[in-house]
Amino acid sequence: MEKYTKKFILKRRPSGEASTDNFELIEEKLPGISRSEILVKAKYFSVDPYMRNRMNNVESYVSPFELNSAITGDCIAEIIETRSDRYNIGDLVIGNLPWQEYSVVNQEKVEIILPAETISSTAYLSVLGLTGLTAYFGLLDIGDPKLGDTVVISAAAGAVGSVAGQIAGIKGCKVIGICGGEEKSDYLKTYLNFNDTIDYKKTPNIRKELRKRCPEKVDIYFDNVGGEISDGVFYQLNNYARIILCGQISLYNLNRLSMGPRLFPQLLIRRVKMQGFIVYDYIKQFPEARDRIKQWVLEGKIKYSENIIDGFENLPTAFLGLFSGENIGKQLVMV
Ligand SMILES: NC(=O)c1ccc[n+]([C@@H]2O[C@H](COP(=O)([O-])OP(=O)(O)OC[C@H]3O[C@@H](n4cnc5c(N)ncnc54)[C@H](OP(=O)(O)O)[C@@H]3O)[C@@H](O)[C@H]2O)c1
Repeated sequence: MEKYTKKFILKRRPSGEASTDNFELIEEKLPGISRSEILVKAKYFSVDPYMRNRMNNVESYVSPFELNSAITGDCIAEIIETRSDRYNIGDLVIGNLPWQEYSVVNQEKVEIILPAETISSTAYLSVLGLTGLTAYFGLLDIGDPKLGDTVVISAAAGAVGSVAGQIAGIKGCKVIGICGGEEKSDYLKTYLNFNDTIDYKKTPNIRKELRKRCPEKVDIYFDNVGGEISDGVFYQLNNYARIILCGQISLYNLNRLSMGPRLFPQLLIRRVKMQGFIVYDYIKQFPEARDRIKQWVLEGKIKYSENIIDGFENLPTAFLGLFSGENIGKQLVMV
């Protein structure tokens, strides 16, 4: 019997802010399954800020999405038919898959997940997935935290920021999170034990707020946001501070960047080290890092939240919500 699937394609590239008009939901006939292939039904999709850059036709560390082709993203899916010698019907697998309800993929494209009883399978898209790993390697390898350091994290209530802040806490650092809104501030302080927060929507003068909250100045800045928030932090850095250049989400929707950064004298006089990184640089160390994070989760030292939106049709809206801060923790879509 012929099988069909719903599928989101990139209809047009955004100019400035992305919107639902950039996506189109179509229905497409599925191909038959050849040897070594599986038919999967998507269960959860991860939506991630980096996908905004893939919507532009620009060179980056990942290639742009092609026009009129499927958007792709990390996904947990269930195998419903198989011609693989590796997997069985009912297995849960994870991989970078097209935004389709059903897909026929080669067995090489996915890995099996065997969730521990105490951790939900969705954790493999959040705290044990790329965002948790990004927090882990960014903070520990580039940030090199020392007992008593003061760590500032932007987009602190998001998937990467919330984990980075807790790892900094485990390492005995004072942690200050920058985030948008009172609910997120409360979440960071009361649920995740951040020492303090700055709600940048209420108090946009980050420099002044940081002067109040950490007169001892900042040793590590985990930057997920860039722009004016980072400008504010740069003024408050300590000698030999480290900047983890993880993301610049405040700039992703801009057509043209203003020239800059202009605050490099601040970095120079304080002998600051700033390093960009891509989580895949650490791919060989993923298994050991995942084990370590899993242990912290099981010991209750790392808590994680997932903001799960129900419905395949809501994929674009869930993705766009990252840019208006709709999520606390990892944004996922349940299919
Ligand atoms: N280098 C790597 O390998 C790597 C890997 C994964 C992610 N990243 C980067 O890490 C950052 C966080 O990613 P994530 O997946 O954890 O997303 P996330 O933090 O869960 O979601 C994005 C958050 O960014 C904040 N935000 C959005 N637009 C903003 C703006 N204009 N100004 C200030 N804050 C804004 C929002 O929180 P508020 O409500 O607080 O504004 C939103 O909730 C992103 O920049 C991403 O590109 C890098």
